[in-house]
Amino acid sequence: MPTIHILNGPNLNLLGTREPEIYGSDTLEAIELACRAFTDAHQTELLFAQTNHEGQLIDWVQRAGAEADALILNSAAYTHTSIALYDTLKAISIFKIEVHLSNPHAREEFRHRSFVSPAVDGVITGLGSDGYRLALEAIMARLAD
Ligand code: DQA
Repeated sequence: MPTIHILNGPNLNLLGTREPEIYGSDTLEAIELACRAFTDAHQTELLFAQTNHEGQLIDWVQRAGAEADALILNSAAYTHTSIALYDTLKAISIFKIEVHLSNPHAREEFRHRSFVSPAVDGVITGLGSDGYRLALEAIMARLAD
């Protein structure tokens, strides 16, 4: 059975109440349930996790490299700051998609730079929680190849 890891970075545990005009009203639990319904229907194993800690996220990305067939990563604000995360993503060779609920390019200047984008296979931004499902669909198509 293929395995997909979906990892979420800081403050995404606050989805639902956090700036809903930017991030939408879905909670992270609702997003996880929707992802799980999708992976269950596709006979795929899913690990879904969130952390507010950079080192934890790096440990989990390393684990994805060792244990998963593909990674969906919303690294939240660490996207814009973490060279360590860039290094970890470069070190793993599984299929990787960066997802953001909002479109960072249409927001503050400091969000325009991503240390993640140059180290992943694809990027989905600005489509809200649909971005996670679209990333899963892209992974299914890739794994079927
Ligand atoms: C985010 C965008 C980031 O710029 C921000 O720091 C987040 C969430 C998104 O999903 O839109 O925390 O990754």
